[in-house]
Amino acid sequence: MLIVNNLTSYYSNIKILKELSFNLNQGQVLCLLGRNGAGKTTTLKSIMGLVDKTRGSILFNNEKLSGIPAHYIPKKGIGYVPQGRRLFSELTVEENLEIGLLARKKGKDTKDKVLSMFPRLKERINQISGTLSGGEQQMLALARALCIEPSLLLLDEPTEGLQPSMISLIRNSILELKKQGVSILLVEQRIEAILPVADEVIIIENGSKTFSAYAKEFKNKKTLQNLYNFTGL
Ligand SMILES: Nc1ncnc2c1ncn2[C@@H]1O[C@H](COP(=O)(O)OP(=O)(O)OP(=O)(O)O)[C@@H](O)[C@H]1O
Ligand SMILES: [Mg+2]
Repeated sequence: MLIVNNLTSYYSNIKILKELSFNLNQGQVLCLLGRNGAGKTTTLKSIMGLVDKTRGSILFNNEKLSGIPAHYIPKKGIGYVPQGRRLFSELTVEENLEIGLLARKKGKDTKDKVLSMFPRLKERINQISGTLSGGEQQMLALARALCIEPSLLLLDEPTEGLQPSMISLIRNSILELKKQGVSILLVEQRIEAILPVADEVIIIENGSKTFSAYAKEFKNKKTLQNLYNFTGL
């Protein structure tokens, strides 16, 4: 459903991504690992049309995304949770969700469905989102992205800075979405945070793919250890 082929992205004239290629199938979770500055966020931004200069191709359900204005991309059913959440912090939980619903003109049914996944947000529906805890804000960012009923979800370090209980909540939501057939491109830095949900892992170093493996291949410890050694993550 998502085919990225030889993606090369630039900021000004500096080449950040270098001929990056990968595929994501329906209902699969593909994890992008890599150190700070490797190009993980740039990969997601390129898919969302937020990088001005890109080469190569990005196909979503056989449709070319390159050249489509950024604000049309969510209308295609691609949800994006940027790194650092980016909520409207002066607005309430409900207002943030309403903004999410607008992109694809979804209504109450969608909102109720999303809130049923996150009872904690339901309890805090009128709270100003800037006053939510870090974990709750991450939940809201995810919930807002779900308001477009995406078939593809891009998550940029959703567990960054969260405690283990929150991490497992986020992980359970990812598993639930996967069960519903949503495809997920998940950026993480720590391999142990994603292993339980990943179908496939790729590692990016300095804008290039240096490693890829199906999760079932590295379920045994030795391969996992090799992966650690390989990347120094
Ligand atoms: N808007 C920008 N203008 C110029 N350079 C940028 C811009 N955004 C990112 N970069 C550079 O591109 C490279 C890749 O950045 P990116 O944010 O994709 O890394 P990342 O893998 O997401 O890192 P992190 O784990 O720290 O989030 C970095 O060297 C960064 O400085
Ligand atoms: Mg990043």
